Amino acid sequence: MCGIVGYIGNKQASPILLDALEKLEYRGYDSAGIAVIDNNKINIKKCIGKIENLRSLVANDEKNGSHIYGNVGIGHTRWATHGKPSDVNSHPHISQSGMVAVVHNGIVENYMELRTFLESKGYKFVSDTDTEIIVQLIDFYYTGDPVAAVRQAISRLSGSYALGIMFADYPWQLIAFRKGSPLIIGLSDGENYIASDIPAILEHTKKIIRLGEQELAVITSESVSVFNSFGERIHKEVQEITWNIDAAQKGGYEHFMIKEIMEQPTVIKNTVSPRISASAIDLGLKNITDKDFRRITNVVIVACGSAYHVGVVAKMLIEKYARIPARAEIASEFRYSDPMVNENTLTIVISQSGETIDTQYAMREAKSKGSKTLSIVNVVGSSIASESDDVIYTWAGTEIAVATTKAYSAQLAVSYLLAFHIAKCRGCIGEKEEQELISELERIPDDIEKLLEGKNQIQFMASKYFNAQSIFFIGRNIDHALALEGSLKLKEVSYIHSEAYAAGELKHGTISLIEDGTLVVALATYMPLFEKTVSNIKEVKARGAQVIAITSDNTSIPEDVADNVVYIPSGYKYIEPMLSIIPLQLFAYYVAANRGCDIDKPRNLAKSVTVE
Ligand code: G6P
Repeated sequence: MCGIVGYIGNKQASPILLDALEKLEYRGYDSAGIAVIDNNKINIKKCIGKIENLRSLVANDEKNGSHIYGNVGIGHTRWATHGKPSDVNSHPHISQSGMVAVVHNGIVENYMELRTFLESKGYKFVSDTDTEIIVQLIDFYYTGDPVAAVRQAISRLSGSYALGIMFADYPWQLIAFRKGSPLIIGLSDGENYIASDIPAILEHTKKIIRLGEQELAVITSESVSVFNSFGERIHKEVQEITWNIDAAQKGGYEHFMIKEIMEQPTVIKNTVSPRISASAIDLGLKNITDKDFRRITNVVIVACGSAYHVGVVAKMLIEKYARIPARAEIASEFRYSDPMVNENTLTIVISQSGETIDTQYAMREAKSKGSKTLSIVNVVGSSIASESDDVIYTWAGTEIAVATTKAYSAQLAVSYLLAFHIAKCRGCIGEKEEQELISELERIPDDIEKLLEGKNQIQFMASKYFNAQSIFFIGRNIDHALALEGSLKLKEVSYIHSEAYAAGELKHGTISLIEDGTLVVALATYMPLFEKTVSNIKEVKARGAQVIAITSDNTSIPEDVADNVVYIPSGYKYIEPMLSIIPLQLFAYYVAANRGCDIDKPRNLAKSVTVE
């Protein structure tokens, strides 16, 4: 999704902006640009395509005498919403007078009405974007006081947006504003930064301020002043970032995705260990109590994408172990469904980034109806983490690849801890079961390690099937929930059409698509339904399918049922299916690698989706 950067200090801004934009590439984008103030004039370079195109443009123009010099500037990577990817639709946008430049992440919902208004005032538009409305509106209100003009303009905008703004005649300051979409300010000696996300500025500073909802910051090279929506100056905590730039680098791997897959044993350890105290689960919650867990009568889980797939598993676990009616809902649907939640509902909100706007709004909807909200989030201090009543962090570290892997697994681990904790609070399980689960969770990292060591087998399968036109994933119960994620992972990174089906449902329609050679990936790790799943595999095999089966190493699947079998370590009572995601992630990765796809930044996708 769009990325914003800004710099003010005594160095040349453009190389810093270009480097910072590169660090935001993982968010997904289709064009990029920078604007720098030089002698009270705003100069802009922007173009469609990768940052390297922008670098070449800057370098070529420089050779031809068209410099982009100056110590204050803003930059942007755009993920198209209003208007197709093009040079002219790229950001920054500049006002007709040339006085104001803006970079924007988010959506202005009432942009048509504002465009008509501005046209009636004589403004001409050159792009199809909603962002150009913002810059012209600020220009319209500008009479010499930048902050006042920005305030007047934003009071007329609806939607969610983060903005980086500069004025040609105020080359000593940047203005940042945030409503919905995230924005941070990086603090350093004699220079300051703005950015959508920490990796953009990490090589320059580890001190950051997170802008809160509707907060506006005035940033100079020496100072940062933050104001609330009433225009009152407020004190902001400075957060010290504890991880370093290595975490945002590939560390010898070809792609972030494989690096992050390989990090999963550590991630699970880091996520589970701090929550185990004296052989019991301690989630460290501050505002949601055991009494709340006893009091609630239903659970709703809201999330998007892979986090939603974790929600599907969490729903099963909570119903199974804590015996509370639970449902997993796609956040973008939940918000507008007049959902049946009340003060007896616990809403669990799952999000890696903590910034997904659909998830955030779904959480607010649940809150407004009296529900307690408990988030499972990876990014510390993010919007969802801050706004929910309580948070359980997944200690997955920074995840750069757009397709999530390690954060997904960490969310799964937390789901088990949470389901068991709720079950224990409600007297559904005793200490013995709790301890069994804990020892299983503690065994998981070593078994993931073993699966990762066997990655050549998956690599070989990927080389066999990477030309598939269409792939089906089947499984029952939790295996089905994992199949959903396996299928999504594959299509995200390899662009192969794929579908996940409840194995027993296939015969009610989709089996018509199975023909000679169609690849079916079948998960059969949920032992209570093993035989039934094997029957479903036979059904597709009988229709000519090629089958990759994933099952437990204490069972076997005959060769005439599956062409390839991946065995996962057995001996688990509760959580064995959690391991089967590893071969699925590896399969998606290696298939995409064979097809030469842009694995870490798949086309059209964004890491953190901050528009509805
Ligand atoms: C985007 C990403 C997905 C992710 C989803 C939810 O669509 O591409 O990988 O699962 O957003 O993101 P979140 O940060 O809320 O987990």
